[in-house]
Amino acid sequence: MTDRPIGSARTESPITPDALKNGSRRRFLTTTLATGGALATTALVPATARAQGEPDPLITEVQPWASGFGDGVDETPYGLPIHFEDHVVRRTVSWLTADTISSINFTPIHALDGTITPQGCAFERHHSGAIELSKADYRLMINGMVEKPLVFTYEDLERFPRQNVTAFLECAANSGMEWAGAQLNGAQFTHGMIHNMEYTGVPLRLLLEEAGIKLEATWVLAEGADASSNARSFPLEKMLDDVLVAFKANGEALRKEHGYPVRLVVPGWEGNMWVKWLRRIELGDQPWETREETSKYTDTLADGTSRKWTWVMDAKSVVTSPSPQAPITHGKGPLVITGMAWSGRGGIKRVDVTVDGGKTWKEARLVPNANPMSLHRFYLEHDWDGSEMLVQSRAIDETGYVQPTKDALRGFRGLNSIYHNNAIQTWLVKANGEAENVEIS
Ligand code: MTE
Ligand code: CO
Repeated sequence: MTDRPIGSARTESPITPDALKNGSRRRFLTTTLATGGALATTALVPATARAQGEPDPLITEVQPWASGFGDGVDETPYGLPIHFEDHVVRRTVSWLTADTISSINFTPIHALDGTITPQGCAFERHHSGAIELSKADYRLMINGMVEKPLVFTYEDLERFPRQNVTAFLECAANSGMEWAGAQLNGAQFTHGMIHNMEYTGVPLRLLLEEAGIKLEATWVLAEGADASSNARSFPLEKMLDDVLVAFKANGEALRKEHGYPVRLVVPGWEGNMWVKWLRRIELGDQPWETREETSKYTDTLADGTSRKWTWVMDAKSVVTSPSPQAPITHGKGPLVITGMAWSGRGGIKRVDVTVDGGKTWKEARLVPNANPMSLHRFYLEHDWDGSEMLVQSRAIDETGYVQPTKDALRGFRGLNSIYHNNAIQTWLVKANGEAENVEIS
């Protein structure tokens, strides 16, 4: 463990306000290059090498990447992350993914920042595999209690007025493995069944109005084109409110695994309702009680009865760094604690962070976000004294709802649940900077 300041900003540096006042920065750089050797032993040595009094060749020597050409503009018609970032990928948990067809993987949230999840590393959940459905073969049927049953092609959908909505999708099973105790060692695995994208699509309301909603219709079924169909019942009000029939995510076509060419976007509601490869919408006057809403996606309470229609995702947050996959490597001193918060009931009002297991809390700096149903990013600039920490975050949403502790949640819900675990997460950060998933009560 070294005890050092960040970079050279806090040590004597030749880029002082005076140096900038007395001449341009360019002139300063010319001077240092000309006298490189002499200066290198002082200000140009980065903190690590400076401790040993050695010059840093990355500063003093011309490097290979500056002595020749880089790649031409036609080398990467469609870009992928640079290979140094190869570890920032979706991952699975072997005992959860029995096969790759009915499967789940997890977003590497510990390594991301900001709020938008790139499609390439956004978690996937399929009940019968990711299907390949072309725009040409795409059809969306609206039937049931409508004046005029309709079938739309992909091109038809493109002719309706569009909206952009940034929203998180959280699988109801996110953190489900943590009900009985701390289990998976990493934010990616405990909280990574979530992603947040900017969707472009047509409000479902416009398509329903085109078909003409019969007065007696109160419920809507949405069904996918894959073998599982993932059919779910929705109250009509939600479908008329903010549900989108989406064909773009983060500006580009949906990836196959996220429902290409068209999926349902259901802001604030559990991921299972975001039907992928959307093929049919039926209107009726009662719910369909499909497999996905009877045997699955209900919460078994302590007395054995089940809660159902638990569509809205309650406020939740997690510290993504430091965390088990994102340990502290720089020693004590300035530390950026960061994470994300979200609520299906509206925007996040406040996030508190504790480093002492909840004895004292500090209000984190919440990055303003105009999209209430989006992930929200928070930061807490902390001066770490190098001792062990119990780090937690606690989200409070616009309704005043406060994210519960694990004990409190188990108090209401018992231990039989899988879905809808929105409890506060604890990371034990040790003096060596490594972190571990723990529980405190
Ligand atoms: N839609 C269809 N047609 N088939 C599916 O298997 N899985 C659901 C939902 N929509 C599913 C589906 C579940 S459980 C979740 S959490 C989300 O899609 C996952 O969306 P993603 O794969 O884009 O992350
Ligand atoms: Co899910």
